[in-house]
Amino acid sequence: MDIDALRTTATALVAPGRGILAADESTGTIQKRFDSIGVDSTEEHRRAYRDMLFTTPDLGDHISGVILFDETIRQSSADGTPFPEVLEKAGMIPGIKVDTGAKPLALFPGETVTEGLDGLRGRLAGYAELGARFAKWRATIFIGDGLPTDQAIRANAHAMARYAALCQEATLVPIVEPEVLMDGAHTIDDCEIATARTLDALYTELADARVQLPGTLLKVNMVLSGKECPIQAGPDEVAEATIRCLTAHVPADVPGIVFLSGGQSDEDATIHLNAMNVRGAHPWELSFSYGRALQAPSLKAWAGAEANVETAQRALAHRARMNGLARSGAYTPELEGRAA
Ligand code: 13P
Repeated sequence: MDIDALRTTATALVAPGRGILAADESTGTIQKRFDSIGVDSTEEHRRAYRDMLFTTPDLGDHISGVILFDETIRQSSADGTPFPEVLEKAGMIPGIKVDTGAKPLALFPGETVTEGLDGLRGRLAGYAELGARFAKWRATIFIGDGLPTDQAIRANAHAMARYAALCQEATLVPIVEPEVLMDGAHTIDDCEIATARTLDALYTELADARVQLPGTLLKVNMVLSGKECPIQAGPDEVAEATIRCLTAHVPADVPGIVFLSGGQSDEDATIHLNAMNVRGAHPWELSFSYGRALQAPSLKAWAGAEANVETAQRALAHRARMNGLARSGAYTPELEGRAA
């Protein structure tokens, strides 16, 4: 294992003022996003959309890396340059989603286990060849009556540790992503407990698998009230609960924690990240790896039309800049009105 190379990549991904763009929507997920703007999810439309995102002028100022999907890492910009090369030239590190999705966990109704270990060593070698320098694997954890179960937490943590070990063997930085979902009426306390249990299991499995934490990143949910909970915690409570949970359950030799947005509005995701960084310094960098919270305004502005590319790119650049400022607690909502 080349721990120096892994550490260098992991540290670069969480460099000050920058964060990760998650653009690794599977074919099913991007179809849902395109449905929202009335665009057919053809291979060419998916390529054109990602081309618009990745060629945004100066995107590398605030985006350190981009997570791609299997189809996307093989596609090219309009001028024929493969996407991984487009990103590297603009100062962004290409990454790849390698899990094959969350599937129902047998005998555990309402819970899932993420698949994708079969043949993973070979697939990682192929992705490295295509230019990927980091990878992502997402597990979904559900809060509900009696959920999450220890078995679902353990099964997901074990699979994630095996994935992370294979990544490090191939000199790809593994992003381990256990996502405790916002869906449901649970309280912020329920979320904190479920997140703590999930992180404890994950770091036990990673240690057992001999994964070197300085060559990894954690991608995780913020500690939030469930979407249907009648009492919604505000930004200070979210920041306090999230930092308390991470401080108690994430080892200090993890170089960075990159949050997913998970269905928060784009501005909430920025406000929450900022509230945590205002309270710095922390043992790890606290950054972002947003999908929806970075892309939503841009997707809407693009709406499938070539004529809208510039407006859509400005919308993405703006969100990237706002989140870049939130990295150091320098964001204020008043900045939203100003042109990027
Ligand atoms: P969201 O920020 O839209 O939750 O997506 C992040 C991600 O990559 C989920 O795996």
